Amino acid sequence: MSMHRQVEEAVRSLRARIAGTPEVAVILGSGLGGFAGRLRDPVAIPSAEIPFYPHSTVEGHKGELVFGILRGRRVLAVRGRVHFYETNDLNTILFPVRVLAALGVPQLLITNAAGGINRMFVPGDLMVITDQINMTGIPIPPDVSVTTRRIPYYDPELSALIISTAASLGLRLVTGVYAGVKGPSYETAGEVEMLHRLGGDAVGMSTVVETALAHALGLKVAGISCITNRATGTSPAKLDHAEVTAVANRVKEHFSMLLSELIARMP
Ligand code: HPA
Repeated sequence: MSMHRQVEEAVRSLRARIAGTPEVAVILGSGLGGFAGRLRDPVAIPSAEIPFYPHSTVEGHKGELVFGILRGRRVLAVRGRVHFYETNDLNTILFPVRVLAALGVPQLLITNAAGGINRMFVPGDLMVITDQINMTGIPIPPDVSVTTRRIPYYDPELSALIISTAASLGLRLVTGVYAGVKGPSYETAGEVEMLHRLGGDAVGMSTVVETALAHALGLKVAGISCITNRATGTSPAKLDHAEVTAVANRVKEHFSMLLSELIARMP
Protein backbone atom coordinates (compact mmCIF):
# COMPACT_ATOMS: atom_id res chain seq x y z
CA MET A 1 0.00 0.00 0.00
CA SER A 2 1.29 3.48 -0.84
CA MET A 3 2.40 5.71 2.00
CA HIS A 4 -0.31 8.17 1.07
CA ARG A 5 -2.95 5.48 1.63
CA GLN A 6 -1.32 4.41 4.90
CA VAL A 7 -1.46 7.98 6.17
CA GLU A 8 -5.12 8.21 5.10
CA GLU A 9 -5.97 5.07 7.03
CA ALA A 10 -4.22 6.33 10.14
CA VAL A 11 -6.04 9.65 9.89
CA ARG A 12 -9.38 7.90 9.42
CA SER A 13 -8.87 5.86 12.59
CA LEU A 14 -7.86 8.96 14.57
CA ARG A 15 -10.81 10.99 13.34
CA ALA A 16 -13.16 8.28 14.57
CA ARG A 17 -11.83 8.78 18.10
CA ILE A 18 -11.25 12.50 18.50
CA ALA A 19 -13.71 15.39 18.41
CA GLY A 20 -12.57 18.04 15.95
CA THR A 21 -9.24 18.99 14.44
CA PRO A 22 -6.52 19.71 17.01
CA GLU A 23 -5.49 23.37 17.02
CA VAL A 24 -1.99 22.46 18.06
CA ALA A 25 0.06 19.27 18.25
CA VAL A 26 2.95 18.78 20.65
CA ILE A 27 5.60 16.17 19.94
CA LEU A 28 6.98 15.33 23.38
CA GLY A 29 10.66 14.53 23.75
CA SER A 30 12.41 12.05 26.02
CA GLY A 31 11.24 12.36 29.62
CA LEU A 32 8.71 15.06 28.74
CA GLY A 33 5.70 12.84 28.09
CA GLY A 34 4.14 13.80 31.42
CA PHE A 35 2.83 16.99 29.84
CA ALA A 36 0.02 14.91 28.31
CA GLY A 37 -1.35 14.50 31.85
CA ARG A 38 -2.36 18.17 31.80
CA LEU A 39 -5.00 17.65 29.11
CA ARG A 40 -8.65 17.68 30.19
CA ASP A 41 -11.10 15.03 28.96
CA PRO A 42 -8.17 13.09 27.54
CA VAL A 43 -8.58 10.45 24.87
CA ALA A 44 -5.43 8.32 24.85
CA ILE A 45 -4.86 6.31 21.69
CA PRO A 46 -2.01 3.79 21.86
CA SER A 47 0.17 3.99 18.74
CA ALA A 48 -0.29 0.26 18.28
CA GLU A 49 -4.02 0.90 17.62
CA ILE A 50 -3.33 3.37 14.80
CA PRO A 51 -2.86 1.64 11.45
CA PHE A 52 0.74 1.78 10.16
CA TYR A 53 1.82 4.10 13.00
CA PRO A 54 5.36 3.36 14.24
CA HIS A 55 6.13 2.51 17.83
CA SER A 56 9.29 3.10 19.76
CA THR A 57 11.54 0.54 21.38
CA VAL A 58 13.31 3.06 23.62
CA GLU A 59 12.66 2.89 27.35
CA GLY A 60 10.66 5.85 28.64
CA HIS A 61 9.00 6.51 25.28
CA LYS A 62 5.41 5.46 25.82
CA GLY A 63 3.80 5.34 22.40
CA GLU A 64 0.45 7.07 22.37
CA LEU A 65 -1.42 10.05 21.05
CA VAL A 66 -3.41 11.93 23.66
CA PHE A 67 -6.15 14.27 22.51
CA GLY A 68 -7.64 16.67 25.02
CA ILE A 69 -8.48 20.22 25.98
CA LEU A 70 -5.98 22.61 27.52
CA ARG A 71 -6.96 26.17 28.42
CA GLY A 72 -9.83 25.95 25.96
CA ARG A 73 -7.71 24.69 23.03
CA ARG A 74 -7.88 21.32 21.31
CA VAL A 75 -4.47 19.76 21.76
CA LEU A 76 -2.94 16.54 20.46
CA ALA A 77 0.06 15.32 22.45
CA VAL A 78 2.32 12.86 20.66
CA ARG A 79 4.26 10.60 23.03
CA GLY A 80 6.88 8.03 22.12
CA ARG A 81 8.90 9.42 19.28
CA VAL A 82 10.69 6.84 17.16
CA HIS A 83 14.30 7.82 16.52
CA PHE A 84 16.01 7.31 13.19
CA TYR A 85 18.66 5.10 14.79
CA GLU A 86 15.97 2.60 15.80
CA THR A 87 14.85 1.77 12.27
CA ASN A 88 17.15 3.59 9.86
CA ASP A 89 14.00 4.28 7.92
CA LEU A 90 13.06 7.84 7.05
CA ASN A 91 9.43 7.03 6.24
CA THR A 92 8.95 5.51 9.68
CA ILE A 93 10.14 8.53 11.61
CA LEU A 94 8.23 10.96 9.41
CA PHE A 95 4.93 9.08 9.53
CA PRO A 96 3.64 10.96 12.62
CA VAL A 97 4.31 14.34 10.97
CA ARG A 98 2.53 13.22 7.80
CA VAL A 99 -0.45 12.15 9.90
CA LEU A 100 -0.56 15.52 11.71
CA ALA A 101 -0.44 17.38 8.40
CA ALA A 102 -3.15 15.19 6.87
CA LEU A 103 -5.32 15.71 9.96
CA GLY A 104 -5.11 19.43 9.24
CA VAL A 105 -3.22 20.41 12.39
CA PRO A 106 -2.02 23.98 11.75
CA GLN A 107 0.63 24.38 14.46
CA LEU A 108 3.29 22.08 15.86
CA LEU A 109 5.41 22.39 18.98
CA ILE A 110 8.34 20.04 18.66
CA THR A 111 10.30 19.26 21.80
CA ASN A 112 13.31 17.21 22.75
CA ALA A 113 15.97 16.56 25.35
CA ALA A 114 19.36 17.87 24.32
CA GLY A 115 22.89 18.28 25.54
CA GLY A 116 24.08 21.85 26.06
CA ILE A 117 27.01 22.91 23.89
CA ASN A 118 26.81 26.64 24.61
CA ARG A 119 28.94 27.28 27.73
CA MET A 120 26.28 29.67 29.08
CA PHE A 121 23.69 26.91 29.30
CA VAL A 122 23.11 24.96 32.50
CA PRO A 123 21.27 21.66 32.88
CA GLY A 124 17.62 22.47 33.47
CA ASP A 125 17.54 25.29 30.93
CA LEU A 126 14.79 25.43 28.34
CA MET A 127 15.97 26.53 24.88
CA VAL A 128 13.84 27.97 22.11
CA ILE A 129 15.18 26.49 18.89
CA THR A 130 15.85 29.39 16.52
CA ASP A 131 17.37 27.27 13.78
CA GLN A 132 18.85 23.87 13.17
CA ILE A 133 21.89 22.20 11.67
CA ASN A 134 21.23 18.80 10.15
CA MET A 135 24.29 16.71 10.99
CA THR A 136 22.37 13.44 10.93
CA GLY A 137 23.46 12.49 7.46
CA ILE A 138 19.81 11.69 6.83
CA PRO A 139 18.74 13.22 3.54
CA ILE A 140 15.95 15.72 4.01
CA PRO A 141 12.64 14.44 2.67
CA PRO A 142 11.91 15.03 -1.01
CA ASP A 143 8.82 17.05 -0.05
CA VAL A 144 11.14 19.81 1.16
CA SER A 145 11.45 21.82 -2.00
CA VAL A 146 13.98 24.47 -2.86
CA THR A 147 11.51 27.27 -2.27
CA THR A 148 10.28 26.23 1.18
CA ARG A 149 13.87 25.89 2.37
CA ARG A 150 14.36 29.65 2.10
CA ILE A 151 11.70 30.39 4.73
CA PRO A 152 12.77 29.91 8.39
CA TYR A 153 11.80 26.48 9.65
CA TYR A 154 11.03 27.77 13.13
CA ASP A 155 8.30 30.39 13.06
CA PRO A 156 9.73 33.68 14.39
CA GLU A 157 6.39 34.91 15.80
CA LEU A 158 5.68 31.68 17.62
CA SER A 159 9.24 31.66 18.95
CA ALA A 160 8.82 35.24 20.17
CA LEU A 161 5.60 34.19 21.91
CA ILE A 162 7.48 31.43 23.75
CA ILE A 163 10.06 33.98 24.90
CA SER A 164 7.47 36.47 26.15
CA THR A 165 5.44 33.70 27.82
CA ALA A 166 8.50 32.43 29.70
CA ALA A 167 9.33 35.99 30.77
CA SER A 168 5.86 36.55 32.17
CA LEU A 169 6.09 33.25 34.10
CA GLY A 170 9.54 34.20 35.41
CA LEU A 171 11.11 31.13 33.80
CA ARG A 172 14.69 31.16 32.60
CA LEU A 173 14.76 30.56 28.87
CA VAL A 174 17.62 30.61 26.39
CA THR A 175 17.66 30.56 22.61
CA GLY A 176 19.91 28.71 20.27
CA VAL A 177 20.66 26.53 17.29
CA TYR A 178 19.91 22.81 17.57
CA ALA A 179 22.43 20.48 15.99
CA GLY A 180 20.80 17.18 15.08
CA VAL A 181 22.96 14.07 15.01
CA LYS A 182 21.99 10.50 14.22
CA GLY A 183 23.22 8.80 17.42
CA PRO A 184 22.54 6.56 19.19
CA SER A 185 25.89 6.92 20.96
CA TYR A 186 26.68 10.26 22.56
CA GLU A 187 29.18 12.56 20.90
CA THR A 188 32.88 12.59 21.61
CA ALA A 189 34.38 15.79 23.02
CA GLY A 190 35.90 16.39 19.57
CA GLU A 191 32.53 16.09 17.88
CA VAL A 192 30.98 18.50 20.38
CA GLU A 193 33.80 20.98 19.69
CA MET A 194 33.10 20.62 15.97
CA LEU A 195 29.37 21.28 16.47
CA HIS A 196 30.25 24.30 18.61
CA ARG A 197 32.47 25.76 15.88
CA LEU A 198 29.72 25.16 13.33
CA GLY A 199 27.29 27.22 15.37
CA GLY A 200 25.44 24.61 17.41
CA ASP A 201 24.21 25.53 20.90
CA ALA A 202 22.62 22.19 21.75
CA VAL A 203 22.88 18.67 20.39
CA GLY A 204 20.29 15.93 20.14
CA MET A 205 19.19 12.93 18.11
CA SER A 206 15.80 13.96 16.79
CA THR A 207 13.75 16.85 15.45
CA VAL A 208 15.67 18.08 12.40
CA VAL A 209 14.01 16.03 9.68
CA GLU A 210 10.61 16.13 11.37
CA THR A 211 10.78 19.92 11.44
CA ALA A 212 11.92 20.12 7.83
CA LEU A 213 8.95 18.04 6.71
CA ALA A 214 6.36 19.72 8.96
CA HIS A 215 7.49 23.08 7.63
CA ALA A 216 7.33 21.88 4.03
CA LEU A 217 3.82 20.56 4.59
CA GLY A 218 2.70 23.98 5.76
CA LEU A 219 2.60 23.62 9.54
CA LYS A 220 3.75 26.50 11.70
CA VAL A 221 6.56 25.02 13.80
CA ALA A 222 8.24 26.07 17.02
CA GLY A 223 10.82 24.05 18.93
CA ILE A 224 11.86 23.76 22.55
CA SER A 225 14.85 21.79 23.82
CA CYS A 226 15.26 20.79 27.44
CA ILE A 227 18.94 20.96 28.23
CA THR A 228 19.37 17.83 30.32
CA ASN A 229 23.16 17.78 30.51
CA ARG A 230 26.30 19.52 29.35
CA ALA A 231 27.45 17.92 26.12
CA THR A 232 30.58 15.76 26.29
CA GLY A 233 33.73 17.70 27.03
CA THR A 234 32.04 21.02 27.89
CA SER A 235 32.19 20.50 31.65
CA PRO A 236 34.77 19.00 33.98
CA ALA A 237 32.01 18.01 36.42
CA LYS A 238 31.03 14.39 36.54
CA LEU A 239 27.26 14.09 36.44
CA ASP A 240 25.77 12.00 39.16
CA HIS A 241 22.51 10.26 38.64
CA ALA A 242 20.63 11.92 41.52
CA GLU A 243 21.48 15.30 40.06
CA VAL A 244 20.26 14.32 36.60
CA THR A 245 16.98 13.05 38.05
CA ALA A 246 16.51 16.22 40.08
CA VAL A 247 17.21 18.34 37.01
CA ALA A 248 14.82 16.33 34.88
CA ASN A 249 12.01 16.71 37.41
CA ARG A 250 12.52 20.44 37.70
CA VAL A 251 12.63 20.85 33.91
CA LYS A 252 9.48 18.80 33.49
CA GLU A 253 7.58 21.10 35.83
CA HIS A 254 8.79 24.30 34.13
CA PHE A 255 8.33 22.76 30.71
CA SER A 256 4.67 21.87 31.39
CA MET A 257 3.98 25.32 32.85
CA LEU A 258 5.51 27.01 29.83
CA LEU A 259 3.67 24.85 27.32
CA SER A 260 0.29 25.31 29.03
CA GLU A 261 0.59 29.08 29.15
CA LEU A 262 1.95 29.19 25.61
CA ILE A 263 -0.95 27.17 24.25
CA ALA A 264 -3.41 29.48 25.99
CA ARG A 265 -1.77 32.44 24.23
CA MET A 266 -1.31 30.89 20.79
CA PRO A 267 -3.19 32.47 17.91
N1 HPA B 1 23.85 14.44 23.08
C1 HPA B 1 22.92 13.98 22.20
N2 HPA B 1 21.66 13.82 22.52
C2 HPA B 1 21.28 14.14 23.77
C3 HPA B 1 22.19 14.63 24.73
C4 HPA B 1 23.55 14.77 24.37
O1 HPA B 1 24.43 15.20 25.14
N3 HPA B 1 21.47 14.85 25.87
C5 HPA B 1 20.18 14.52 25.60
N4 HPA B 1 20.05 14.10 24.33
